[in-house]
Amino acid sequence: MADKKGVILTGDRPTGKLHIGHYVGSLKNRVKLQNSGNYDTYIMIADMQALTDNARNPAKIRNSLLQVALDYLAVGIDPKKSTILVQSQIPALSELTMYYSDLVSVSRLKRNPTVKTEISQKKFGQSVPTGFLTYPISQAADITAFKADTIPVGEDQEPMLEQTREIVRSFNRIYGKDILVSPKGYFPPKEMGRIPGLDGNSKMSKSLNNAIYLSDDADTIQKKVMSMYTDPNHIHVKDPGKVEGNPVFTYLDIFASDHDKVEQLKAQYQHGGLGDVKIKRYLNDVLQATLKPIRERREQYAKDPDQVYQILKDGSNKANQVANHTLRQVQDAIGLNYFG
Ligand code: TRP
Repeated sequence: MADKKGVILTGDRPTGKLHIGHYVGSLKNRVKLQNSGNYDTYIMIADMQALTDNARNPAKIRNSLLQVALDYLAVGIDPKKSTILVQSQIPALSELTMYYSDLVSVSRLKRNPTVKTEISQKKFGQSVPTGFLTYPISQAADITAFKADTIPVGEDQEPMLEQTREIVRSFNRIYGKDILVSPKGYFPPKEMGRIPGLDGNSKMSKSLNNAIYLSDDADTIQKKVMSMYTDPNHIHVKDPGKVEGNPVFTYLDIFASDHDKVEQLKAQYQHGGLGDVKIKRYLNDVLQATLKPIRERREQYAKDPDQVYQILKDGSNKANQVANHTLRQVQDAIGLNYFG
């Protein structure tokens, strides 16, 4: 085991720029795993999956591709250590999806809890796109094409991994070969899993307009921090304030390195005598220090988009070799190798 590397595959839908929720929830983990040297790491920009609910707005996906790639490079995903690939440029993924589709029932797809939640949120009504309902199958293709065993994602992706494991089990049983590899999730610690929005909403998201982006400039970050939701009953500095459900303290717990100081501030806030402005100024300092090097690296790469596209092209070329090899094994196992 010691000398056998694990394989990581993970990815994002390119529907916009990435924010600090993505950073603590997954990007940071990926960089750590990449740098551990224990894994072959594949990071996919899942543009086809993004199209499953954006088919009529392809420009958004096309434009977000570069933004997401810049965010990756900015946080330290290193193309020398990780393969960054673009889903639509790997045809074998679509072929694998076709074969796997025959192993999954429509009712099984309709039971997927994450897909169910998304369907109700996205207000498709009676017109759920087929590609949307079936994206868990395509995600199983993403994972298995690279024989990935370790999938760093948020908890909401567990149903996709469960679906992938079912497909792997069926495939290996029916076609009699140990070809596909069963993946495990690698989840962030609970408190990192989902960071609240600036408005105190439990989720940070672009659609809720309550996010701090990795690309935000210093002024924007400061403005966002100073306008954050706190404890609405903490009106005067001398009033006792609440720390639970107060996103300023949640962010400090996650981003501040001086935990003793954060505990002291919490005690003072709860006791009374610590104003929101003061605590927000401290949070601003903490976030500026975290985000400055990320933003600067991002700006550096953003000057040369051709270089970034070249990184994606090289990564996709490498990914094609691996995925084509798996596809050949899959076709062989089914017996679709008529011509030798
Ligand atoms: N479904 C993932 C998300 O919404 C993105 C994704 C696509 C993915 N393919 C993947 C994640 C394969 C892990 C592995 O964030």
